[in-house]
Amino acid sequence: MRGLFLFLKFSLVGAAAIGIRDSPDQCPGYNAINIIEHDNSLTADLVLAGDACDLYGSDLLNLKLLVEYQTDNRLHVIIHDADEEVYQVPESVLPRPGSKTPGSHRDNPTIRFDYQPQPFSFRVLRGDQVLFDTANTNIVFENQFLHLRTWLPDNPNIYGLGEHSDSLRLPTTSYTRTLWSRDAYGIPSNTNLYGNHPIYVDHRGHAGTHGVFFLNSNGMDIKIDKLYDGRQFLEYNTLGGVIDLYFLAGPTPKDVSMQYAEIVGLPAMQSYWAFGFHQCRYGYRDVFEVAEVVYNYSRAHIPLETMWTDIDYMGSRRVFTLDPLRFPLEKMTELVNYLHKHNQHYIVMVDPAISDIDNEAYNRGRVRNVFLSRDENDIYEGAVWPGVTVYPDWFNPETQPWWNNEFERFFNKSYGVDIDGLWIDMNEASNFCAWPCKDPFDYAQNNNLPPIPPPVRPAPRPLPGFPNDFQPQSSQHGKRSSSLRPRDTKGQKIGLPGRDLIAPQYQIANAAGSLSNKTIDTDIVHFGKGYTEYDTHNLYGTMMSSASREAMLQRRPQTRPLVITRSTFAGAGAHVGHWLGDNRSQWDQYRISISQMLQFASIFQIPMVGSDICGFGGNTTEELCARWTTLGAFNPFYRNHNEIQNIPQEFYRWPTVAEAARKILDIRYRLLDYLYTSFHRQSETGEPFLQPLFYIYPSDKNTFANEAQFFYGDALLISPVQDVGETFVNAYFPSDIFYDWYTGQMIRGEGKTITLRNIGITQIPIHIRGGFVLPLRSKGAATTSELRRRGFEIVVAPDRDGYARGKLYLDDGESIHPANSSMVEFEYGDGQLRIRGEFGYHEAVLVESVTLLGQRKRKGVMGVRHGNSSDHDVSFDADRQVLKKQVHIELTAPTVINF
Ligand code: NOJ
Repeated sequence: MRGLFLFLKFSLVGAAAIGIRDSPDQCPGYNAINIIEHDNSLTADLVLAGDACDLYGSDLLNLKLLVEYQTDNRLHVIIHDADEEVYQVPESVLPRPGSKTPGSHRDNPTIRFDYQPQPFSFRVLRGDQVLFDTANTNIVFENQFLHLRTWLPDNPNIYGLGEHSDSLRLPTTSYTRTLWSRDAYGIPSNTNLYGNHPIYVDHRGHAGTHGVFFLNSNGMDIKIDKLYDGRQFLEYNTLGGVIDLYFLAGPTPKDVSMQYAEIVGLPAMQSYWAFGFHQCRYGYRDVFEVAEVVYNYSRAHIPLETMWTDIDYMGSRRVFTLDPLRFPLEKMTELVNYLHKHNQHYIVMVDPAISDIDNEAYNRGRVRNVFLSRDENDIYEGAVWPGVTVYPDWFNPETQPWWNNEFERFFNKSYGVDIDGLWIDMNEASNFCAWPCKDPFDYAQNNNLPPIPPPVRPAPRPLPGFPNDFQPQSSQHGKRSSSLRPRDTKGQKIGLPGRDLIAPQYQIANAAGSLSNKTIDTDIVHFGKGYTEYDTHNLYGTMMSSASREAMLQRRPQTRPLVITRSTFAGAGAHVGHWLGDNRSQWDQYRISISQMLQFASIFQIPMVGSDICGFGGNTTEELCARWTTLGAFNPFYRNHNEIQNIPQEFYRWPTVAEAARKILDIRYRLLDYLYTSFHRQSETGEPFLQPLFYIYPSDKNTFANEAQFFYGDALLISPVQDVGETFVNAYFPSDIFYDWYTGQMIRGEGKTITLRNIGITQIPIHIRGGFVLPLRSKGAATTSELRRRGFEIVVAPDRDGYARGKLYLDDGESIHPANSSMVEFEYGDGQLRIRGEFGYHEAVLVESVTLLGQRKRKGVMGVRHGNSSDHDVSFDADRQVLKKQVHIELTAPTVINF
């Protein structure tokens, strides 16, 4: 009886993990034959070990296994079809890393591969520890379904597998992570969102950390669950592609992040100004309203670095056009000139969906055949903001030059809109017309596309610097272009023939329903090699990202382009940054933004990331907006943005929010070189600067699930207030020394939670971790260019033993290859602050003061080896336990300051 019960339970649980129809347990798996061990690799043939189970398609009979010891810390395992017909993520989208130093890794690898030939299963080990183990599970490799399961330890700490809005440490039972790009308004939890990052970090505390990257762009469900007997597993169930796994040995979380960057690429360095504050809104009625916002920020003394405009600027929401009534070129040029004259910046949105009505960009693209199509006379159409739209095919080699050309024309410095950065949206790609979208024209006519506000304005408001001689011009009229051009014939198709590209038997848990719903039809075949949308859907946003970065580079070849995208795939960070999409103005989304930001910045290597501050959907409140303003200042990408129908939420709209913004922007800007230095480090080494607590305290179990606090760089612990009406936060302090940013008060962390109280809504708790030196710019800059001319205050926060270190990276702030740069190193100990390093950059690098935290009593006079100093320059604040010394030191040569 018990046996029957167990059998039933097992079958049900096993079936539940994979779907009700059947289970991979009934599949035969593969036998490994012809196994050959080479110096640094192993190859084998895998043959189906029994009758095909044809679970969700047809089993492939012959596979090949390749195991590569690529570096001492990276193992690559790929299982693909023997005929190499099955789709693999193109190298053009994600170039593969090779072996760094061939010949050595097999001798002394940190992780190693172990296998059973018949039936084939494998394990990956670090020392004696099993990291990945497919024993007693069957690999299923079918034309439309792949399945691979690994056993995990009990209660594992698994992170990553984004994009999602679930907990930072992922649930371990009945949990499915679906990866399939989706226009995910409201970013609901437990659903697939905009991007796809099939990497997980498995953190085992004292035993170490490792990462597993599954390089596969097909739609997939990754399940984490337990069997009836309590065995914990993680399994991949995908709609195609090959089993392509990279094992990253760690052994620390930071190591895993850096090892991952070796595969997907180091993140793109950003310009200094990009870290300033950005204001955006969907629904600015016209260029005057945009100008008014710029003016209001300056009147409220809130530093505004960059003004943004959403689709509102477009003529009838068609990309590469201006609304001649609301955003005429002449006024746009005035706006941009005004911003530039005041050292501010301007960014607008570009969507991939191109309207085919009266649109030169469309006509030129048509001539070059750059749009997705079914055949040469049948361009694929969907419906997005402007109505009927077509979609660029990023696989077509003609698309990049066409895109460059459109950018060059429309964003031309002399006769176009001279933008400083770019915002790309709707690139999952989004299509409002539900599948099957029979008639997008009819859909666009009858299905309530969001209305464009009428082109009327109240009496012009006086705005300094903006003339008000605004005259409406005639609107555009036109018909869809009818000039059809023949298309090039397409090449050989990639991907197995005979697949159902619309409704595969295995259904991933796509929250949008069927695969093609609200996006491009998945049976569309791309140009050239004929990649299908079914296989490459998850790459669309990233391909648009790199194409757009390239187009921006063509315009300003020497400067680092700022491109912010909605949809991402692994590796996108090498080209662009990401905002977290359409969140809501709710406290739960304010909280989850921390976890989302941490994942992108530390695990997925897209550190230029941030949420819509104050929330995008729904009306914000003064309290939520004030709190989010303070939290947002610790998002690398700091932008206030919301939706057209909601109340305006610029920071100056409420006195408390304005005050919060002024206070926190002052802190953000003082810390901007610290951020810039840390970001630079990540762009050079992959070492993440934004980190969850367990990255810094990997042995402290209390940190593993902490998603309420985070480290901004290695030195600052940020502990935001968590909920409405609260003026306290229960903050965890690991065993370490911390100094309160505001009071200097020292906290000896003991691995306990401390309740921090009386946190007004304009404040956020910040603690400096002992052991660090922070180079802070002096207060009060209105723009980052003003900030760059400010002097430095060097703050020394000694650790338990009285030591501290820090770095400062300086360059011109925008060049891709700066002519001069400095990497200044600070080291404090034994009563001396030693400043050394490389000093190539000489502009505005004055140190004006040095502050020593945690001092119980006033010390002797500080002496500076290269200057005069006197007792008058030293002040001691007994309450704050801070010793401060005014100095005048150019950071152009090594110096020692004695305390
Ligand atoms: C969707 C984007 O996520 C949002 O930020 C934007 O405001 C709207 N599209 C309109 O362009």
